[in-house]
Amino acid sequence: MHNDRESKFRVLMVCLGNICRSPSAHHVMEHLIEQRGLSDLIEVDSAGTYGGHAGDLPDHRMRRAARKRGYELTHRARRVTGSDFADFDLIVGMDGGNVSDLRMMAATPEEVAKIDMMGRYIRRFPHYDYVPDPYYEGAEGFELVLDLLEDACDNLLDHIVEKLPKQ
Ligand code: 4NP
Repeated sequence: MHNDRESKFRVLMVCLGNICRSPSAHHVMEHLIEQRGLSDLIEVDSAGTYGGHAGDLPDHRMRRAARKRGYELTHRARRVTGSDFADFDLIVGMDGGNVSDLRMMAATPEEVAKIDMMGRYIRRFPHYDYVPDPYYEGAEGFELVLDLLEDACDNLLDHIVEKLPKQ
């Protein structure tokens, strides 16, 4: 397998605003990829189905909660585009609304097949099958997002590694 950008497996994390959940998923996953020495093989980005926060840093409450766990959220929000469906190998929605919005945007059955949901990979929190929107919640909503994502991203990364071409 080549180590250039073209050959990397590319994952796009998607939520509504791209200022709370998906940039957190992006940075948590990037941290796990670095920890496992997979940076030459897997690349992550994030985007939102709603573009109203485009260009913004993540929400300050999300940044504060993430920083306490060692994640520096520096991503600038952007909206999902049609070309993302060609550019990425896997597109992961945080909740059912994100997934149905993504399905509406996909242009072909092959693009639909790239869509997955983060909730499928949550194992340690049996009461959750999606990552709830923390935007209108208190501080504990942001901690919950990180708890769910630290669990789910680890399992999602196992799943991605199984899909990588064997060297
Ligand atoms: P996110 O949270 O989808 O996790 O980034 C939200 C951010 C902004 C809004 C909603 C959810 N909003 O309505 O502006």
